[in-house]
Parts: sequence; structure tokens; C-alpha cells
Amino acid sequence: RPLLDPSPPLPALFASVGFSIFAFLAALYLIPALGPTFVKANLKGRDLLKVYSDPIPESQGLVCASIYILLLILFIPFPFSNSVGSLPDSGKTLEGLQGVASLHHELSIYLSSLLSLLMATMLGFLDDVFDIRWRHKLPIPIIAAIPMLMVYYAEGGNTHVVIPIPLRRFFGVLVNLGPLYYLYMSLLSTFTTNSINILAGINGSEVSQAVIIAMSVILNDLLYLPWPIDFKIPLHLLGSQAEVEVGGAWHAGMAYGSSELVDRHLFSLYIMLPLLGVCLGFMYHNWYPARAFPGDTLCYTTGMAFSVVGIQGHFSKTLLLFFLPQIFNFVLSCPQLFGLVPCPRHRVPRFDPDTNLLYASKVLFLRPPSKTASFVLRIMSSLGLTALTTHPSNGTILEATNLTVLNFLLVRLGAMNEKRLVQMLMATQVTGSLLAFVVRYGLSGLVYDG
Ligand code: UD1
Ligand code: MG
Repeated sequence: RPLLDPSPPLPALFASVGFSIFAFLAALYLIPALGPTFVKANLKGRDLLKVYSDPIPESQGLVCASIYILLLILFIPFPFSNSVGSLPDSGKTLEGLQGVASLHHELSIYLSSLLSLLMATMLGFLDDVFDIRWRHKLPIPIIAAIPMLMVYYAEGGNTHVVIPIPLRRFFGVLVNLGPLYYLYMSLLSTFTTNSINILAGINGSEVSQAVIIAMSVILNDLLYLPWPIDFKIPLHLLGSQAEVEVGGAWHAGMAYGSSELVDRHLFSLYIMLPLLGVCLGFMYHNWYPARAFPGDTLCYTTGMAFSVVGIQGHFSKTLLLFFLPQIFNFVLSCPQLFGLVPCPRHRVPRFDPDTNLLYASKVLFLRPPSKTASFVLRIMSSLGLTALTTHPSNGTILEATNLTVLNFLLVRLGAMNEKRLVQMLMATQVTGSLLAFVVRYGLSGLVYDG
């Protein structure tokens, strides 16, 4: 595609939509068809929140990831072949050489992303099979992110952040974070891969988070495409505050030509659309009452896909805004994740078979909690984040509800059935995304000059 042509290559975008519909249908068909094969390979789990104990095929995210990655590979010729064809004498003229260089660059972005996705899928599947310990699996997404970080480095990716207006007196307008910026990006991949996995355990929870985040990213990408003239006004408004480099920071004015910006969001669409397709197909079977479980494979693959578009599309901070419920769940979980409060193997809500309702599950203190733990739990309880059972006479904490968003919702809103709870979780995710758009396009003008 010629360098300065700002219109999107429509055939590739249409192909991507076609591939996504195919991904949806493939997941819809293959998930139940391969279920028995998974059960036979001992990849099965019991639904903890049901009366029945039939084995449910587990880690069928592997089917989703396989469909997804294979389609991403089959898609490669579409955005990349016509660019070469359309260049006159690609090897000879300056324009031709620039075109070839930019093609190689975009291809390396795409291929490194595939590598990271494959690593994440492998890690997810290994985790399903071997139940890898936290301290062993945490560093792996960091390593999985290296290929795409190298590509970011090779393109001279910026490591500057724009300082909000009130703080500029101390730091200036731009601060170069250098290697710290790379550390931030690699931690991003650890966060996106794990954060969906720990907001899990009820039918439809993992995949619905992925669906809503993917839809939010797609919506955000669409804002950057050069729509026909009627839509130009909002696009122009966005352009003036576009999150273009310097360093993926909110930056006033378009630093690069608009075609660069369009390309990044097109890339993001190519990665997100088939993900949405495959997830919607899977969701049909994972919806209450679930006939298939995602396993960690689905959480890791989708999480890595989000990191890939956030980093390569240079909108990692906007992406993090779409993860507000996951950030909240992670902060809430910290006392249990870092061992201050005991963390049982499963923190899913408690199921009462008589009423068919879910209640917040509790962690029982066999020994009285430490001073620090008691202090933290009491603060959390006063904020309404957990419910405590205390000893009637001396007030020591005997029980606390598990520190997850699902239990938090049950503590605040009372017992409800599983389907209702997953709908509440989805509503929370949608609200988070709406808030994200307000913050990104409304409020950022207050702290950054637009
Ligand atoms: C994470 C959570 C854990 C939660 C689990 C549920 C942390 C630190 N870990 O662990 O608290 O209990 O996810 O996925 O927060 N299951 C259902 N219904 C569902 C989905 C899963 O009952 O809709 C059960 C099944 O028995 C399934 C198992 O959860 O086999 C899968 O758990 P797994 O993904 O291996 O747990 P972790 O990711 O390690
Ligand atoms: Mg899991």
C-alpha cells in the first residue's frame, strides 16, 4: 500500500470481517464436536456451582486459540500482498524502496505478535495440564512479550510520556522513561494474561470479559478510520487529542501523518475482529449452564491479544482503561495473592443447592490473622469490600469473604443465581468501558492540552 494513502485497504478489512464470521462459525461447530475428545484426554472439570457432577470438557480455549491463530496466519496475504503489487518498480525508485521497508516493518509487527500469541497459548495450555505455580508462571508472559518489544524498539518506538499540565512545573512536558517503559510494557502482558484468569469461576465469566474488552477496542479503532466525509467532524476532534506518539502518551496534536495512525488501528482491527468472532462462538457453549470450560488457555490467549494491540497499536493506556474491573479485582485480590490472607484453591462463590443461589464464599482463619492482615481486612470491610465474621467477645476475625469482584458483588447486592451474577459482571465491564471512553476522550482534555 502506498505510504501516504490514508484510505484503508478495504479488501483486507472485508477479508478480516469474513474471517471473523468464519471464526465464529468454526468455534460454534468445533467446541461441542471436540468436547468428548477433551474429556477422553482427561481435560475435564466439574462445574463447582451445580448439583450435577457430569464432566465438562476443560481448556477448550485451546480450540478457540487454534482456530484464531490459524486464521491469523491465513490472513497474512490479505493486508500485505496488495501493497507490493501497487508499488511501481518497488525495488528501484525511492518510493518503492520506502514501500518495501514499510511492508517489512508491518510484517514484522504481525509476525512477532503471532509469536507472542503462540507463547501465551502454550503457557495457558501447560497451566491447564500441570497447574503451574504462580511464581513460575508470572515471568513467562514477560518473556513472551520480548519479540514484540524488540519490534517496538527497532521502529524507534518512543519511550517518552507526556506529563499532565499540573505536574509540568516539576517534570517538564516530556519525560523519557527509557528502559522503564519497556518494563511497563512487559508487565502489561503479565497483567492482561492473568487478570482475566483470576476474575473467573462462574459460567461465561472469562469469555464475556474478553468479548466486551474486544468490542471496546474495536469501537475505539473504528474512531480512527477515515470515514466518509460526514463522519469527519468527530474524527477531527479525536485526531487533535489522538494518543499518537510520543510514547503512546496522550499527546496534543498529530505527531505523525494520519496514515500511520490509521495503519495501527487497522492492525488492531485485524487482531481483534477474529478474536471477537471466536469468543462469541465459544460463549454460546460456555453460557449458563456451561457445556464447555475455557481453561487458562482462553484467558492467556485473549489476554496476550489485548497486550499485542495495546503495545503495537500504541494505545496501551487506553487499553488499560478497558481493564478497570480487572484492575479493581487485582487490587482487591492482592492480600490473598501475596499471602497476607490465606488463598484457597478456588475462590468461586458458594453454591446453595436448596435455593439455587450463590453466596459470597469465605476464607476460614484456622489461626487468628496477623496484626497486618486484621488491619487490612478491617479497612476493607469498612469500605464494604468484604464481610467479616468476628468473635463475639474478643473481636478477632474468624472468617472473611474471599477478595474478588464476584464475591464483592454478592456482598453488596445479596445472593443471586449464577446467570444473574455473570450478567452483573458483564454490566460492570460495560460500565467500565463507557467510563473509559469518557476518561479517554472527555477528561483527558482537562489534564492534557488538546
Ligand atoms: C482461578 C482463581 C480461582 C478460581 C478459578 C475458577 C485466583 C487466584 N484463582 O484459578 O480462585 O476458583 O480461577 O476458574 O483467583 N469452574 C467452574 N465453573 C466455571 C469455570 C470454572 O466451576 O464456569 C471450575 C471448574 O471446576 C474448572 C475450574 O474451575 O475445572 C478451573 O479452574 P482453573 O482455571 O484451573 O483455576 P485457576 O485459573 O488456577
Ligand atoms: Mg483459570
